[in-house]
Amino acid sequence: MTTTTDSPRAVDVAGSDEIPERGRLVVEIGNTTLGIFRFRGELRAYENVCAHQGGPACQGRIVQRVREKLDASRRSQGLVFDEDSMHVVCPWHGFEYEVATGRHPGRPDYALRSFPVEESGGRIRVTV
Ligand code: FES
Repeated sequence: MTTTTDSPRAVDVAGSDEIPERGRLVVEIGNTTLGIFRFRGELRAYENVCAHQGGPACQGRIVQRVREKLDASRRSQGLVFDEDSMHVVCPWHGFEYEVATGRHPGRPDYALRSFPVEESGGRIRVTV
């Protein structure tokens, strides 16, 4: 997708309706590729560069976190999807990132580079 710059740094990247809840849009701004996500109404923008070995993390599969359900005795009742999470999985080696934070859930030191994103008047803008 080619974008236009409407100020020196804030770049109009899409209409609001192009990123629905739990949706994603990957855009190129100059030499930078960004993944923009919407989760619980909030937008997040991350550089499409995995903290592991540089893979296109933002283009990976979107999944919910898997949790183990325990009973009162802490015995496993099986695995369940966590409706309160949204992860993106890097397609190269499977590193997962929480969309809300951009961090790997088990290794918070692995994180995607984030960019400010705002929405107004039905348009989404990212500051790069
Ligand atoms: S480059 Fe993303 S998991 Fe390895």
